[in-house]
Formats: sequence, C-alpha cells, structure tokens
Amino acid sequence: MATYTTATITQKYHDAIVDWQKKNFPDLAILERHWDDHFKGQPPFRLLAKIGEVKTDTIDYGQYTGRKKFEQAKDMVGNMFFSSRDIIKAQCSTELGSIQQHRITLDGAISDKGRFAVLRIMAEELRHAYQMFWVLDNDPSWKKPGLGDVAKQTIEDLLSMELGDHVLDAFNIDFNDFLDNVTYATVIDLVGKYQLEMQQVFSYAPMARSMGPMLQEEAFHLGSGRTLLKEIGQMAARGEGDYSIQDMQKALNLWFPRGLEMFGNEHGGETAVTFGFKDKTNGVAQTEYIEEVKGVVTNVNVAMIQEKVSTLSREAARGVLEEVERSGDPSRGVRPEDILRVPDVKFFRKRGDEEVIFQPYDVAGALLLEGNKPISPDSYLEFLGTVLPARFIGSREYDKYVSQMREFFANQRPEPQV
Ligand SMILES: [Fe+2]
Ligand SMILES: [Fe+2]
Repeated sequence: MATYTTATITQKYHDAIVDWQKKNFPDLAILERHWDDHFKGQPPFRLLAKIGEVKTDTIDYGQYTGRKKFEQAKDMVGNMFFSSRDIIKAQCSTELGSIQQHRITLDGAISDKGRFAVLRIMAEELRHAYQMFWVLDNDPSWKKPGLGDVAKQTIEDLLSMELGDHVLDAFNIDFNDFLDNVTYATVIDLVGKYQLEMQQVFSYAPMARSMGPMLQEEAFHLGSGRTLLKEIGQMAARGEGDYSIQDMQKALNLWFPRGLEMFGNEHGGETAVTFGFKDKTNGVAQTEYIEEVKGVVTNVNVAMIQEKVSTLSREAARGVLEEVERSGDPSRGVRPEDILRVPDVKFFRKRGDEEVIFQPYDVAGALLLEGNKPISPDSYLEFLGTVLPARFIGSREYDKYVSQMREFFANQRPEPQV
C-alpha cells in the first residue's frame, strides 16, 4: 500500500466544495451510511487531499530534465504556468463532470452492488476534485502579481460548471441509462488512468504527488466498470435484463470516440512532454489505450459466448470469437451480432486528424460512399442515428456535434481520397 499524508484545503474552498456536493451529489450520505454493508474493512470515505510520494525528486522529461521538480507555481515561467493550470483545471473538470453524469441514471442501477459501486466512484471523483483544489490552494504562488488570484478564479470557474460547460466533450454528455454509467467507468475512466499514470512524472511536484493515491482509487472504478459490463453482457447473451448486445454496442460507439479524443490530437502532446508534465505523447498513450480497450472487450465477448454456448471452455470460446471476427460468419451458433466490436478510430470523430473528423466513416472504419463520393453530412447523421443510442440523438451534445460538423464543412471541404 502506497504511503501518503493527508491535508485539507482553506475553509472557504472546503465549504464551497461541500456545498457543491450537496447540490450535485446528495446521495453521498447514503454511501456513508451503508459503507460497511458493501466495503467492509476498507477505510471509509473522507473528503481529503492525499499527498503521496514522487518516484524521483528531479524532472525526468523535457527541457528541465535533471532539475529539481518545481515546488512553486511561480517558478514555472512563460507558457508553462498556464499550461499546468490548464491541465489541473481539465483534470478537475473531469472529476466534477463525471459526478454530474453518473447521478442522472444512478437510480437505474442493475443491482445494489452496481449502485454502490457507482456511489463509491462518485465519492472518489469528488475527492479527486478536492485534490486538484488542494494543488491550487496549497501553493500561494498561484496568485501572481499582474495575473490576479489564478487559484481562486480557477476554483470558482470549476464550481460553476454544469454539464455542457466542461473542458472535455466526454464530460458533457448526459447519461441515457445505467449502461452509460458502466460503459463510461470502463472506457472513460480508463483514459483517466492513462492520464494519471503519465502525470506521475509531473514537473510541478504537488501535482506529481497527487497521482499515486488517485491511481489507487481509479483501479476500483475500472474494476467495477469491467465487472458490471461483463455481467450486463452475460445477461444480454441469455436474453435477460434491460440491455441487449446491440444496446451495449451503441453505448460503446458513443463513448469510445470521446475517450480517444481525451488524449488530445494524436499527432500532438509534445509540449506536455517538453514541460515535463507527462512522459508520453498523445499518440503513444492513445495506442496503448486502444489495445487495452480491445482486451477488455475481448473478455466481455468471451464471457458472452460462454454464456450462449455453455459447453465451451474459455479457450474454445476465444477460438469461436476469433473465427467470427475473422470471417464475419456465424460459428458454433455465435453470430457476428452476438459479439461487441471496438469502433474503428476513424468513426464518429470531431477532434484530431483533419482527414478523419466529421468524415462519414462507419463503425468498422469504412468510408460510407454514394457512388464514388463520400455520403453527405445529412446522410451521415441519418447513419449515426442507427448506431448511437436513441436518446443521444437530438440531445444537447448531439446538437453540438451537428453544428460543429456544419461549421466544419462550411469552412472547408476536403474530399477524402477514395
Ligand atoms: Fe477521478
Ligand atoms: Fe474514476
């Protein structure tokens, strides 16, 4: 178990985040009351900052390699000061946004176990937000002559964010149903893990010290997501429960592209490495992420196949999965529509490569054509209606996608090579 010390933040900010919690996460009280029923033996939830240890006191990446990590924000010069603030702010926005999202559909939990897993995830995300407040609050030098009180401005900004205002798109999407809570904990929290892991090297020491304890908690989020997703998959394979395999596929189609974009442009991220904030560029981290998602989905597929054909061993089920994936034909009674597939990286993108964003790619990554030309934006929207959750269509974030798409095509119309 990693060692850490704890700290609280200035009373006025502590009170402000407690007020935020009362408004956005009143169910915390239920979790606290029933903690022992579900998580006996594990230390009860407390709203605190946890200050872990750094692997090295020195900066290991980028232009300051070999220097001691920065203890004070004011020592970060030029762009570095605001770039680090932006990362802290984005991180905190994800924590707060996820609570606002989970809350919407919490009551639809498939089981009490599922409900309490999500309640605990929400509580820990609240602590992560608190942690980011601590990063800003414990260092008086975020207040810089001429720049005002950057910590105060940032904290106030964060506390006022509603769904729709958050920094990253993934944290603005309203959940449709409990399948979203689960898919999100599997696919979106996993990006969180990558970010936290990369930020363990952070050249600003208070941020680096925050990552270890956060990562430990994140493991519960990922584990819960995977367990529940598998359970939902097994139920779907038996034709039980509220969700079909098609519903699961649609949820994956909704979240995976936004997860990919949380890494930032796949050709970028050098600045974060140059400043010693992260140890990997966006593309490198994203590639590892894609492989890990594929592994998770394979596990769900194998469990579903075993549920369908109960005589199959795990190994044999894996063989059937590979066969169905390769041939696109049924094998041992398992049809292609009985398994989940990870969407292609080109599908449903709005950020990243110019050649890909807003282009009409299907879930498998094939460009949809009409004759020899890509289908029109309107036809693509029609197509999206068939592969995304019904309740997402027409939602605020869907409308945002549509207007950004229209703007994109009004400004430029690169014809992808066919
Ligand atoms: Fe978190
Ligand atoms: Fe999380």
